Amino acid sequence: MLQGTEDYFSRQTKYDGFALNQAFERALVCALPSDEDAPGHLHAAMRHAVLNGGKRIRPRLMIATAEACFGRPLEEDEAELVLRAAIAVELIHSASLVHDDLPCFDDADLRRGKPTVHKVYSVPLAVLAGDALITQAFEIIADYEGKHQRRALQLARILARATGSQRGIIGGQSLELAPQDNGMSMEFVEDYHEKKTAALFDFSMRAAAIATGESHEQQEHWGDVGIRLGLAFQLIDDLLDLYLDEEATGKTTGRDRALQRPNGALVEGSNETVKRLSRLIDEACGQVFELARKPDPVLRLMESFDSMLMKVEISGGHAGEAGAPKESRNAAQSGIFTARVAAAAVG
Ligand code: IPE
Ligand code: IPE
Ligand code: MG
Ligand code: MG
Repeated sequence: MLQGTEDYFSRQTKYDGFALNQAFERALVCALPSDEDAPGHLHAAMRHAVLNGGKRIRPRLMIATAEACFGRPLEEDEAELVLRAAIAVELIHSASLVHDDLPCFDDADLRRGKPTVHKVYSVPLAVLAGDALITQAFEIIADYEGKHQRRALQLARILARATGSQRGIIGGQSLELAPQDNGMSMEFVEDYHEKKTAALFDFSMRAAAIATGESHEQQEHWGDVGIRLGLAFQLIDDLLDLYLDEEATGKTTGRDRALQRPNGALVEGSNETVKRLSRLIDEACGQVFELARKPDPVLRLMESFDSMLMKVEISGGHAGEAGAPKESRNAAQSGIFTARVAAAAVG
């Protein structure tokens, strides 16, 4: 049984999305070593990295997808596997943020409304805290003792892939260091986004399909949905980085322009970016309707992308570029996603 979830797993025999989301927060706290256990300063840094108010979009997407796949509340063995995978993905994501904020990457002081891990605990400790969160994620999955051992092994394998050098975050982050002799193309940006961000969204949705016993073909389809949502999510983040300040986002912004990062809106303009991500959401939405026994939980989460995007006021077609169209409009136009979801539901 997963530590911190004893109450849930003893009181219930079936687990819906609400129960799983609640169990998730408690289990996440328990999944991290206590700062009273040695080495306490390292454990404190790990806890700071994770228990600091993230949106938890990846675990929430995984739980919603599990509901969508199963179409009814989950049995205990499946529910525990989903929870373990959900914790693991949040630990990997948080580790990636700790490393991403380091002076040798984005050199950011603020994350989730608080000083970054290296600001509070030093650069060396932040490197180690990120490393330890990654190993902790795999331990959480390996500790599963339920009846679906093969599924657990598969989860560990695809999480390694989503984290690693060839198709995962580490490979994606390394592309920031790749020389771009002929200027930056959108193909390059998309490859970078797919690895550094969409890989974990792919994992989240695919893991839900694996944990609930979906066929290999269904797993692949859910992974595709994850890629599209991850690409859209990163394009939104690119817009936030260009247009919003620390107060609105709770993190250091403006780094993409300053450091010449592969940012979709810097490469092809903000209006094109909104069109591109709207297309991605459209396609993902159609797929969810085809795949899900119960699409609502996933669609509701997709609508929450709207509220992120609605904070952005785009002024001009190309962020900050001279000669760009002068009109200022709300990037979400009162909810491109909500409109898409509603249209898909009707049609
Ligand atoms: C930020 O991710 C980094 C990206 C990949 C865009 P989130 O926006 O999910 O960050 P938190 O977890 O809510 O802080
Ligand atoms: C971070 O990308 C994605 C990671 C894999 C860590 P960004 O650098 O765009 O994310 P923020 O803006 O710092 O959250
Ligand atoms: Mg970065
Ligand atoms: Mg960054």
